[in-house]
Amino acid sequence: MSSLLGIAGSLSNPSKTRTAVETALQAAADAFDVETNLLHLADYDLATADGRKLDQYTGDTARALDLIINSDAFIIGTPVYRGSYSGILKNLFDLIPRGQWQSKHAPLENRPVGLIATGATDHHYLSISQELGPIASFFGSYQVGDGVYVNASQFKDHELKDEEIIGRLEVLGKATIELSRSIDQSTFLSSLGPQF
Ligand SMILES: Cc1cc2nc3c(=O)[nH]c(=O)nc-3n(C[C@H](O)[C@H](O)[C@H](O)COP(=O)(O)O)c2cc1C
Repeated sequence: MSSLLGIAGSLSNPSKTRTAVETALQAAADAFDVETNLLHLADYDLATADGRKLDQYTGDTARALDLIINSDAFIIGTPVYRGSYSGILKNLFDLIPRGQWQSKHAPLENRPVGLIATGATDHHYLSISQELGPIASFFGSYQVGDGVYVNASQFKDHELKDEEIIGRLEVLGKATIELSRSIDQSTFLSSLGPQF
């Protein structure tokens, strides 16, 4: 069974980002025979990335990296901070190997990544394509469509209340699994990888 990991890149709890990521995960689990897991960074005491080898990380950091390495598809959500993704999510990206000197693992390479950002307003909706998109590209991932941006007015008490945005998040979750399966059945999509 393939495994879909949702990453909520927020230290808040409750977290709007987590709610949005969980909506996508639940839709995928309802539609497909897929295992879903959630990595909410508020629940993990991550070490600060310092370039050590992957097997030298311990505790929560090792657990988080294991979860990532053992997943086939990803929903990555962030709160918008200063027009970009959160610092704690940047630290996680710095921890994730990409098959070179830190580790042979490249968990995001040739894998689908559905992107979500939650912000106070719509002003920073381009943070998905201009901030998260490039990091997905750096890892050699396939971005699922253009992701989903959610603003504060679409929540009430950290619960989503906007049916249209709920629908978009649900489609994102299901499309991420569709793309994952297409990659698994492919010859070329599964071997492309980043050029450098
Ligand atoms: C340090 C900080 C910076 C923020 N910067 C922005 C921003 O640039 N644009 C925006 O729309 N919202 C910004 N926000 C609001 C959060 O993105 C928004 O409340 C988000 O939905 C919080 O998600 P969470 O509940 O998962 O932490 C900022 C919030 C904080 C704490």
